Amino acid sequence: MGFGYKNKLHVQKQDIPPDVVKAVEFQINKEIYSQYLYNSMGAYLQCSDLPGMAKWMFKQAREEEEHAFKLIEWLTLKGQRVHLAQIDEPIPQWWDSPQAVFENSLEHEKLVTSLIHSMGEKILPFDKDHPELGIQALVQWFIDEQVEEEESVGKIVQIFVDGKSSNRSMSDIDIEIGNIQHTC
Ligand SMILES: [Fe+2]
Ligand SMILES: [Fe+2]
Repeated sequence: MGFGYKNKLHVQKQDIPPDVVKAVEFQINKEIYSQYLYNSMGAYLQCSDLPGMAKWMFKQAREEEEHAFKLIEWLTLKGQRVHLAQIDEPIPQWWDSPQAVFENSLEHEKLVTSLIHSMGEKILPFDKDHPELGIQALVQWFIDEQVEEEESVGKIVQIFVDGKSSNRSMSDIDIEIGNIQHTC
């Protein structure tokens, strides 16, 4: 997805139900937490001298920031004030192996998928009375994005599993992961 401050877009004031604002703000916090966690994973991989894996993970962190920004913009372009809450410290910040990092990332993506579904359960009921807000499209974008993210990190976990059974070196696996293109 494209990222950046779209300074040509103007605010079109629309009233958003407070419960919708609250649920979207909660998800903004979780997306920024994901960015924080993935930066922590990238740092671990980089100082473990695995530059390919670190590159992939740092890029993933940037994508999480884009997700948060998409939600922020969804609110602010409707003239809605946004309250950003405190971000938790990422846990963990150290792993037993590079494989454990990506397994943890997959586990985290599954958690985020469940959070997106619970955001959907909270805000989709408002779609009927406020079709102009585009609630349905917003939720669907995030559901589709989660399918892609679980799939891409799942494929990386599989590279480790297959690599173990064929005795591949860690630096070889690092090169392969560093060459994977992010899908958006
Ligand atoms: Fe995300
Ligand atoms: Fe994600």
